[in-house]
Amino acid sequence: MKASLIEQVLGNDIEEVLVAPEDIQVKVRELGQQISADYIDKDLLLVGILRGAFVFLADLIREMGIPVETDFIAISSYGSSTTTSGVVRILKDLDDDIEGKHVLIVEDILDTGLTLNYLVKNLSSRRLASLEVCSFIVKEGKQRVPIKPKYFGFTVPNKFVVGYGLDYAQKYRNLPFIGTLRRSAYEDNGML
Ligand code: PRP
Repeated sequence: MKASLIEQVLGNDIEEVLVAPEDIQVKVRELGQQISADYIDKDLLLVGILRGAFVFLADLIREMGIPVETDFIAISSYGSSTTTSGVVRILKDLDDDIEGKHVLIVEDILDTGLTLNYLVKNLSSRRLASLEVCSFIVKEGKQRVPIKPKYFGFTVPNKFVVGYGLDYAQKYRNLPFIGTLRRSAYEDNGML
């Protein structure tokens, strides 16, 4: 089943694979080890941004050698088109009080930076012990606000990318690689 999905999208929807599954695995392991070392004597709360970060977060925590807590926040910035609306709002807030905690925001992609900019400001007002950002992907030359994640995995060109949690119209999140979406995959849908 999985092989046929990949064959289908590689033939039709994906233009180019930018980050292969093996490279993702190696990088997630490196990040897990680095973050574990940095927070070895601290209580760490990982905050995943729904929905895209759930795949990366799930892999990341299994590469960490220290006890961690997880919580999730859902933010909307895109709708279902391939360009950002610039509108950022909280759809689901954290479940727990995070005052006094060491918090690491875990994001799948830093694009315009509007989402993280909003979230950093929002969480900073909650009296944390520390706040840092880990974004698995950083899109080159796209940031509209100055956000520098302390941890990141890969940079990608300024193209529409999907896979490993990243979607187009809620699809492709389950691809085990990160790739560029062929124009025909979204133009056929009449989305743009
Ligand atoms: C995507 C992505 C980031 C955000 C980055 O989320 O997961 O959260 O956009 O974009 P920005 O840097 O331009 O703000 P999206 O709103 O598409 O929701 P999703 O996580 O449910 O896919």
